[in-house]
Amino acid sequence: MRPLLVRTRLDLDAGLAAHRAVGARIALVPTMGALHEGHAALLRRAGDEAALVVASIFVNPTQFGPGEDLDRYPRQLAADVDLCARAGADVVFAPEVDAVYPEGPGRGITVDPGAYGRVLEGASRPDHFSGVLTVVAKLSGLVRPDVAVFGEKDYQQLVLVTALARDLCLRLRVVGVPTVRADDGLALSSRNAYLDPAGRRAAAALSRALTAGVQHQRSGAASVHAAAERVLARTPGVDVDYLGVTDPALAPAPESGPARLLVAARVGDTRLIDNTALLLGG
Ligand code: PAF
Repeated sequence: MRPLLVRTRLDLDAGLAAHRAVGARIALVPTMGALHEGHAALLRRAGDEAALVVASIFVNPTQFGPGEDLDRYPRQLAADVDLCARAGADVVFAPEVDAVYPEGPGRGITVDPGAYGRVLEGASRPDHFSGVLTVVAKLSGLVRPDVAVFGEKDYQQLVLVTALARDLCLRLRVVGVPTVRADDGLALSSRNAYLDPAGRRAAAALSRALTAGVQHQRSGAASVHAAAERVLARTPGVDVDYLGVTDPALAPAPESGPARLLVAARVGDTRLIDNTALLLGG
């Protein structure tokens, strides 16, 4: 079935009113559009979690820094609505900027992402997570979902959104969904569309580096880091921004037990991120 496409707060409320009246559970999948099979997996998971699935499509200006790709970020609403239909979304909320930021983007109350918003991605993109958490809080206020579904591909985002829901008492359960990958391991991302064929081949080194790291997990965080670094260093055209091993909550890596390996790199003028779970030690 085609989802209901709504562009304003009023139409969103009208579209959700009957479901709210009977107390139907609502799942929100926040996206910036340019949807791919990774998003389809989020939407299907949302359908397992709730009676009504709302996909939001909004290229959020406040999470882009100066000189980043806000203007060229792919916008393709008609194709996105088709994918939402295939993946079982009931409502697509695609607001204009002033419906989300009536006060103007960057003005008014914003969310401070705290210490873990300033490491890794947050160190390279200083205002990024404040923008992400502010828009997630706003979308949650507009849609009032019971559950929100995010991809593990943006692992730091997933950790911070989980903390946002907990710390600001949003009464929202945050669910993470494993990364969907292409045959060569490259994590699906809307930004992969920027890659030319040579860049596309080079980009697969990120997931190869993660695999190399996992192969050394028994030897601890330093070995994981070194193994992943070797793969990245021998791939021309990959300019590493950061490569880090942390615990699952982004604190320093433990000697043994669950951990996370995270990477960001530039391939040409495209910035890509990826990560994987680790089990350190014997
Ligand atoms: O992951 C994304 O696409 C965005 O960061 C999100 C969560 C939709 C907020 O704009």
